[in-house]
Amino acid sequence: MTDLPPVPFRNPRARHGFKSRTCSVTGVGSYVPSRILTNDELSRMVDTNDEWITTRTGIRERRIAAADEATSDLAAKAAVRALEFANVTADQVDLIIVATITPDMLFPSVACLVQERIGARKAAAFDLEAACSGFIYALEVGQQFIMSHTYDTVLVIGAEKLSSIIDWTDRNTCVLFGDGAGAVVLQSRPRSHGLLTACMGADGSKAGILCMPGGGSRIPASSDSVASRLHFLRMDGRETFKNAVLAMCTAANEALQRCDLSIDQIQCIIPHQANRRIIEAVAERLQAPPDRVFVNLDRYGNTSAASVAIALDEVVRSGRVKTGDLLLLLVFGAGLTWGAAVIQW
Ligand code: UT7
Repeated sequence: MTDLPPVPFRNPRARHGFKSRTCSVTGVGSYVPSRILTNDELSRMVDTNDEWITTRTGIRERRIAAADEATSDLAAKAAVRALEFANVTADQVDLIIVATITPDMLFPSVACLVQERIGARKAAAFDLEAACSGFIYALEVGQQFIMSHTYDTVLVIGAEKLSSIIDWTDRNTCVLFGDGAGAVVLQSRPRSHGLLTACMGADGSKAGILCMPGGGSRIPASSDSVASRLHFLRMDGRETFKNAVLAMCTAANEALQRCDLSIDQIQCIIPHQANRRIIEAVAERLQAPPDRVFVNLDRYGNTSAASVAIALDEVVRSGRVKTGDLLLLLVFGAGLTWGAAVIQW
């Protein structure tokens, strides 16, 4: 990354004594499965139609992983692309963090499976679960390891095979989600910028509005839990919608305030891709120009922890951002959880 002129705004990290080190995003990558599931196909599976899905959500199609393709397979492919972009070899990676709610199995972690798959022999590896907000949570955690000089190279991945926890008979949810993975490489680059701030929030009192009740220690898998369809994602859509708009706006304002930035200084906003109406409502409240808000949910639907990671990769590779541009990432998900990050490219 090239050297940049002095930052025209306050870097919030400086307040915490981290002046000596910055954390840059040196690589981006993503992978989506090749199988496309269209709205018309869904209308042959449940009582829905392309017009309803498109007008209520903005989604036209989503990607579905193959039966023999698990979350770690998607994650590893995105990771390899991010490493290539950063010109970093797998054995240089110190730490792998995977944000996911659809691990291959309860344990070991997807991160360990990715470590083996890509050959990152010396890397520590763990998963992090903050549902659709997981990628920003993982970015912040990864950044802390860089800033504290604990590690030099951190691979952060958001990856999901949501099709494995979707109730394909429930029209309220099955039209919304898709599979995919996105990854970034975090490194310290002297005299360049990168992740300026990441803020995170949570409200466990609303855990019930978006959850998968079965398969954990509360309701272990049994023939009863399977018969009661407890191993599928459940969502109160309207409640989730309201909270998503509020939380993403709050997170955006906090992140901007921490950096002494206003919304018109941001060149590209990358919101969690759950519903076009949520994105429009957030943009309107933040008074963000629509042409600065990136949307790709028409092609992928909601890919949870992978959503913003895939979008970031597409934004960067499309040439839409140039060195020095400011990006605002916004997420919201089950927990409830939310977050925002400001990146200077
Ligand atoms: O990543 C985590 C964050 N997730 C989200 O942020 C998702 C947030 N929620 C949403 O995006 C929206 O609430 C939904 C897209 C899930 C639903 O949109 P809505 O405008 O809130 O619709 P609704 O739930 O109020 O349902 C309106 C009607 C209902 O029919 P009745 O009860 O009014 O007769 C639903 O049964 O639409 C019906 N409906 C459908 N109709 C056709 C719900 N799903 C479908 C469908 N096709 N797929």
